[in-house]
Amino acid sequence: MKHSNQISIKRRDHVFVLTGAGISAESGLATFRGTDGLWEGEHVEDVASPQGWKRDPERVWRFYSQRRKAALAVAPNPAHLALASLEQTLGDRFFLCTQNVDNLHERAGSRNLVHMHGELFQSCCESCDNLPFTDTQLYETRASHRHCPCGARLRPNIVWFGEVPFHMERILDELLRCTVMLVVGTSGAVQPAASFVHWARDRGHSSLRSYYVGPEHPSNASAFTQLFEGPAGVLLPQLFAVAPADSH
Ligand code: OAD
Repeated sequence: MKHSNQISIKRRDHVFVLTGAGISAESGLATFRGTDGLWEGEHVEDVASPQGWKRDPERVWRFYSQRRKAALAVAPNPAHLALASLEQTLGDRFFLCTQNVDNLHERAGSRNLVHMHGELFQSCCESCDNLPFTDTQLYETRASHRHCPCGARLRPNIVWFGEVPFHMERILDELLRCTVMLVVGTSGAVQPAASFVHWARDRGHSSLRSYYVGPEHPSNASAFTQLFEGPAGVLLPQLFAVAPADSH
């Protein structure tokens, strides 16, 4: 396939976008892996696993309280805004799945999106089926921890390692119907998200075009039709050539 400096979106295309921590990097939020990443200073299993929660809930809440504080202090960047604007143009032919737990996509104006790894500004019961609720509080000491009416502890509504990601049925439907897949700012190190491009290619639309945007090649780079190398905030605002509604 001929490489181009834009992604051309035609009248009948359905676009599936998967984002990772890299899209929020230019807003000032740290990514997970690599130099200065969040997993440099913390052991994943201590703060992002059911075992870590059982061992030391105070440490877990301190970690996610820090994340809440950091996310409250930043704003969406041009990459978030470019995706929100693309959704405005495409309507329900656009679907966004993010691995990020921050709310920068919503704050940029995205609406047709799911958070497969949960939401930073939600808490839920560790035990019963009460629905998750919006929660911007910080829990930096054990004394500040809250409990559900059922008596169990409240935990962050985040999908930890070993837990099942949210919205998988909807995500699979969208992967099977998309004709354009765009992946932005994710290292391709975490399953099942790292396999989405393979699922769409092998089980989805025969004419799928798939693209990756980020400064480094992800682990699953060979699965993409084309890679756009560079920061998302610089590339995304110029990236889409959308055909007018009455063209082919
Ligand atoms: P990673 O930290 O693994 O990867 C971030 C990616 O963003 C890297 O490939 C960087 O090259 C890229 N990147 C950095 N700056 C960028 C920029 N300005 N524009 C575009 N890309 C940029 O983060 P994720 O792949 O999102 O899960 O991590 C996946 C999951 O692992 C997270 O959702 C989290 C984590 O453990 C849970 O906590 C459950």
